Amino acid sequence: MFTAEENEQLVRVGPGSAMGKVLRRYWIPALLPEELPEADCPPIRVRLLGEDLVAFRDTDGRIGFLDRWCPHRRVDLFFGRNEECGLRCVYHGWKFDVAGNVVDMPAEPPKSPMRDEVKIRSYPSMEWGGLIWIYMGDPAYQPPRPPELEWGLLPASHRNIQKRLQENNYAQGVEGGIDSSHVGILHSLLSPPDGRTFRERQVAIDPRLSFLAKDTSPKFFVRPTDYGMLIGARRKASEEHFYWRITQFLAPFYTIIAPRSPEGPFAGHAWVPIDDNNTWTFTMYWAPGKPLSEFPDLDAAKVNVPVIPDGSYRPVLNSSNNYGIDRQMQRNKNSTGIIGIGLQDSAIQETMGTIVDRSREMLGSGDAAIVSWRKLMLRLIDELESTGDIAQAQKPEIYRVRSAGIVLPRGVDFAEGAKDMMTVA
Ligand code: FES
Ligand SMILES: [Fe+2]
Repeated sequence: MFTAEENEQLVRVGPGSAMGKVLRRYWIPALLPEELPEADCPPIRVRLLGEDLVAFRDTDGRIGFLDRWCPHRRVDLFFGRNEECGLRCVYHGWKFDVAGNVVDMPAEPPKSPMRDEVKIRSYPSMEWGGLIWIYMGDPAYQPPRPPELEWGLLPASHRNIQKRLQENNYAQGVEGGIDSSHVGILHSLLSPPDGRTFRERQVAIDPRLSFLAKDTSPKFFVRPTDYGMLIGARRKASEEHFYWRITQFLAPFYTIIAPRSPEGPFAGHAWVPIDDNNTWTFTMYWAPGKPLSEFPDLDAAKVNVPVIPDGSYRPVLNSSNNYGIDRQMQRNKNSTGIIGIGLQDSAIQETMGTIVDRSREMLGSGDAAIVSWRKLMLRLIDELESTGDIAQAQKPEIYRVRSAGIVLPRGVDFAEGAKDMMTVA
């Protein structure tokens, strides 16, 4: 039983919140590079961990994250002018560099002491692994670099990163990302009704998914690791073998799902809290050994969620149009009547409300990983409060792991049996 108090601790991420303080000890994926495409391009509004910022790329290509509100009289710096290595507030002309220094105050006398005293709140940034990152925590604890997740280590041709807005708390996203038991049900395809059961109709349509569909009640095994946790979902494959989907949760909000082939492509997510009620869902596809263009099955039209091209990254199909649900499709072709795995996940997570009341759930054995995950996150709060530090945030190298889908003889430990497959050099 997860209490309402524990739920509050888990989901509240704003300034001053216990979980917000934990999350601020990590580098956080903030933007796609396309959002700040070139030097002196227009600044954009950014909201992360309940805090409003403005981001800009200066004349030298450096990225600044500043408080969105001008320290003079609180004008929205989104309307600022990005010019000559600084963002200038258009009201009285105060100009700020990427480090938050005031470099010009045209409306103040040249000798004014304010020129040296005033700063605007700013946060460090980094471009790495196909993303723009931000560190919003105590400077004394700034990790040397972002976590070395495999997709970030590869050439750009070997990865694809998409972003979409989800109008729900980040924890619902993470819980979907580690929830192997929904995969063979929510995302299943169906043959048309013909008297067979739901399960038989799933197997008939997609033999590649047969393990998932034949055994829809996997047994879960969860192991704590230095980066977070390793989750083994075990399904029957034969009298002698089990089929394992082995996936990771990497703190504070990364998930990896199991690939169909050891070559990949792999898929994973970062569930980045915008605030208590909204999340940036970054979806990564990657292949360690070859460019993604060599995977004809990775059909962008199927895996990507089309978003409104106005910078909001809101899916075109969203709660206001019931995610485009097609009841004929639901009857004859798939479980949901919603097109695409990503949108199916978004839709289902949003329907729970922006913050699900976890004290009212009825958890089953298929939810074992989720229970472990919640405890893990609450332990991070304890760690920060008791030691002042989050040890793993300082160790980017421990994130070098990948997921696996593997048939193993019964009796072989899943972590041992798949060890080599999960190692990233
Ligand atoms: S409000 Fe920004 S310079 Fe005056
Ligand atoms: Fe899913």
